[in-house]
Amino acid sequence: MQSAKPNNDEEDQLFRLLRQIDRASDASQRALAAAIGVSLGRLNALLKSATEAKLVRISDRNGPDKRQRFTYTLTSRGEAEKIRLTDSFLARKFAEYDALHAELTGTTSNLVPLKHRTIMMENNLAPISELYVSHDSAEKMKFEAAQLPSWDLTARQVCDLELLMNGGFNPLKGFMSEADYDGVVENMRMADGALWPMPITLDVPKKFAESVEIGQDIALRDPEGVILAVMSVTDNWTPNKALEAEKVFGADDLAHPAVNYLHNTAGEVYLGGPIIGIQQPMHYDFRARRNTPNELRAYFRKMGWRKVVAFQTRNPLHRAHQELTFRAAKEAQANLLIHPVVGLTKPGDIDHFTRVRCYEAVLDQYPASTTSMSLLNLAMRMAGPREAVWHGLIRKNHGCTHFIVGRDHAGPGNNSQGEDFYGPYDAQDLFRAHEEEMGIKMVDFKHMVYVQDRAQYEPADEIEDKDDVTILNISGTELRRRLSEGLEIPEWFSFPAVVTELRRTRPPRAQQGFTVFFTGFSGSGKSTIANALMVKLMEMGGRPTTLLDGDLVRKNLSSELGFSKEHRDLNIRRIGYVASEITKNGGIAICAPIAPYATTRRAVREDIEQFGAFLEVHVATSIEECERRDRKGLYKLAREGKIKEFTGISDPYDVPEHPELRIETENTDVDNCAHQVLLKLESMGLIAA
Ligand code: PPS
Repeated sequence: MQSAKPNNDEEDQLFRLLRQIDRASDASQRALAAAIGVSLGRLNALLKSATEAKLVRISDRNGPDKRQRFTYTLTSRGEAEKIRLTDSFLARKFAEYDALHAELTGTTSNLVPLKHRTIMMENNLAPISELYVSHDSAEKMKFEAAQLPSWDLTARQVCDLELLMNGGFNPLKGFMSEADYDGVVENMRMADGALWPMPITLDVPKKFAESVEIGQDIALRDPEGVILAVMSVTDNWTPNKALEAEKVFGADDLAHPAVNYLHNTAGEVYLGGPIIGIQQPMHYDFRARRNTPNELRAYFRKMGWRKVVAFQTRNPLHRAHQELTFRAAKEAQANLLIHPVVGLTKPGDIDHFTRVRCYEAVLDQYPASTTSMSLLNLAMRMAGPREAVWHGLIRKNHGCTHFIVGRDHAGPGNNSQGEDFYGPYDAQDLFRAHEEEMGIKMVDFKHMVYVQDRAQYEPADEIEDKDDVTILNISGTELRRRLSEGLEIPEWFSFPAVVTELRRTRPPRAQQGFTVFFTGFSGSGKSTIANALMVKLMEMGGRPTTLLDGDLVRKNLSSELGFSKEHRDLNIRRIGYVASEITKNGGIAICAPIAPYATTRRAVREDIEQFGAFLEVHVATSIEECERRDRKGLYKLAREGKIKEFTGISDPYDVPEHPELRIETENTDVDNCAHQVLLKLESMGLIAA
């Protein structure tokens, strides 16, 4: 906190000093003073206050020249201050120019406020500002940052950070402060009034947040420990997540994937502050197809593409998409950028490796000179209307002038009442309302369907003779069904190369991996049924089968864990991880832990459903019956208080609300219980009838 606001001269001198140090850290004091245009005495005063404010660090040079004893470097706070002062310096210069213009021409200059004018100046081809420091400074900072407290970024945070650093999230300069967050949640505006619809926050556990002080720098690392950036923490607060869910996603309903993430994955506390970018996250896949905003802008410049319409997608491209994108390019008289998201999309989506192979397979259906494809490492939130505005701003930052918004843009699916979260054209309406301010135009599209009589795709609402023609359409759900059952996918719907690629990744269900997850009280019969099921599946053959029984896992995988909530969650997440690997590789995992917590079971389901089916089986033996059987004698010990935190006696059990199967064991033999599971698997197409 500064005690008094410095005047403009002082700010300018500080700005010049920081800039100069960043450029040439080993210049002599005399050279430094000359470059800034101040006396040696003034330079010393400036250096003193800059070091006191922790903007500049002085170290001994130990060189032969005794007159040049020190080296000056910017701290990460100094870097952030330099960026802030650059903005304010430019703002002042523009204001001075405006005043001079008015004085010389004698006219009121009708000048647009600075914010808007910079938007006009910043056309889609000019470079956009990034948050990276120079290569030399990055090398220095990496070394220094190794000593800072550090935070290992989550997969979503890595995506967010990449777009913060490369200008994809311009004008954001870091993870949001509390004031920016409040404004964005409330009315899609940052504290300075700039339009921004999505909170970009660094969520961390309370324990980590308590270890960090305001004003402190922290290193942000990728999951392998590589330092990507330094953040100067300015804010630390506990958000009202229910309010965030209501305002940003439209409902505090866990059926919304981002709301579920907010409540069950994101940390309790948010940290905010400016970022200094050191290096971009490393990608080893499809490197040639990944472009920063500035790389795309340079490409458009080189190709002379003045108007570019972007198409956002998280699905493979079929013929309807091709028609839609052609029409959009024609309507906007623009070149086309296919800009698929390869960061995080909706849980259960087709993985990006398969999708990119599909995109590459159809790219030659587009004229090469007018169309390009680039991959965007964005973590989507599926926030419908707000997401559409966000996507538009991101595409504008990537140099695009137009953006396609179709039906139900970034829709999250149904809510817990089975209804849509948003209306099918809400996203278009919100985009339209902000289009001018955003500086990117919307190309809106209605639902495209195939008119068999004319053998072409047309927007559904423009077909005037709809009663006289045959209209065909295959929904996403229907496509998944056809793939999983190995049924025909007609040529009018997709391209043969895309279908071949999809079939390689999604073989029919009876050849895919899956997980059967038993849950229930200790002694309910989970292990016995699971064993019987395993033997029956092995008798059928075809897929490798593994049993992850509660007791066995505790012996081999979780021997150090107890029965606190934290330890039980860890135990179940480990089981889920192993099961997801087995499922991914085409095997059958049978799990039989107590798994008392619904949120943990849901998280495991999400991990597994990325790769194959998840069948939750509730072994619904009552606690009274389990206690009566007391096979291991544990209930007696629990009643006597000799075993603590015993599920159903002194610890909770969340009864599954919607398991795929609920088995009553009390009047049913084991063979029959296992058979019920087999029948269920058969009805789901997971084993051949
Ligand atoms: S959890 O909650 O899913 O991690 O539990 P799980 O690993 O399945 O428990 C395995 C067996 O541990 C025995 N046991 C207890 N169960 C519940 N609560 C407490 N405090 C406890 N202490 C030991 C219990 O016999 C579990 O066995 P089964 O019968 O296999 O469920």
